[in-house]
Amino acid sequence: MRLSPAEFVEKAVEEMREALPTGRAVVACSGGVDSTVCAVLAHQAFGDRAHPVFLDTGFMRAEEAQAVEKALGRLGIRLEIFPVASRFFQALAGVTDPEEKRKRFRATFYGVLAEIAAEKGARALIQGTIAADVAETQAAVKTHHNVLDLEPQVWPKELLVLEPVRSLLKPEVREVARYLGLPEEFIRRRPFPGPGLSVRVVGEVTPERVELLRRATKIVEEETADLPAFQAFPVLLAEKATGLREERRHYGEVLALRFVRSENALSAEVLFPPWEKLQSLVARLLQELPALSRVLYDLTPKPPATIEWE
Ligand code: XMP
Repeated sequence: MRLSPAEFVEKAVEEMREALPTGRAVVACSGGVDSTVCAVLAHQAFGDRAHPVFLDTGFMRAEEAQAVEKALGRLGIRLEIFPVASRFFQALAGVTDPEEKRKRFRATFYGVLAEIAAEKGARALIQGTIAADVAETQAAVKTHHNVLDLEPQVWPKELLVLEPVRSLLKPEVREVARYLGLPEEFIRRRPFPGPGLSVRVVGEVTPERVELLRRATKIVEEETADLPAFQAFPVLLAEKATGLREERRHYGEVLALRFVRSENALSAEVLFPPWEKLQSLVARLLQELPALSRVLYDLTPKPPATIEWE
């Protein structure tokens, strides 16, 4: 970013007003720093003409919707939550191919958003797509759910799409967030992908497997809050493994732990936490989640691996 954060904000607000001189916009909020910065910019540009919304897709983390609502509320931004999990589970039922999952998630996401926009009489969507999302999609690494360029048909063409932080990488978004006075909890928040837990349950997603991963994610987040990780999360694998529970054979679920350091998500190295930390984390996972039979540690940097498994 060649502009200072102050110049960036001024320019972004001005451009948003020029693009949408009248009428309403819905702001797609996820609780991450990118979309929260967009919600604040939209609030500055449009005031009550901007409607921040949160789709509870069923693939979010535990209590995420309420936490995001509360945090945005502290910034004076009122969030409307739409519980639409059944739409997403229906769309993803029986799908195992990772790109197909991402595409169906995206089509459902924008289908629901377009309905909300129509309901509100909105003329535009504001979303927090950043440069890394665009780069990965254009390089055909994976279909980032919030990049519409390659498949514009998922969004009605008469509705504008405004992406005020599209030219920025994560560290720059964080600088702008700091300038806007967002609380440190937002700025430091570890990235969470738009399709959420759906791309961290390898293979078919079912409500039961997603719930297991949600519980594992909560434990991992609690136990790794003090690690210098860009991201630290579990992934539920498609394969099962033999184990032993209550002195009987148990063919249970396998979880992989993915802990990485990164500046901007374009590349990443593996984070090696102290052994004791891993031991106590694994002990807690195995104790609190009886469905598990094994926990693995992912040792692969990006490249060649991507950060998410799907
Ligand atoms: P990958 O897995 O491509 O991820 O190395 C790079 C960064 O992007 C996040 N990610 C996403 N973010 N929509 C997003 O907003 C998506 O569809 C998406 N997929 C991956 C990922 O968590 C990592 O920080």
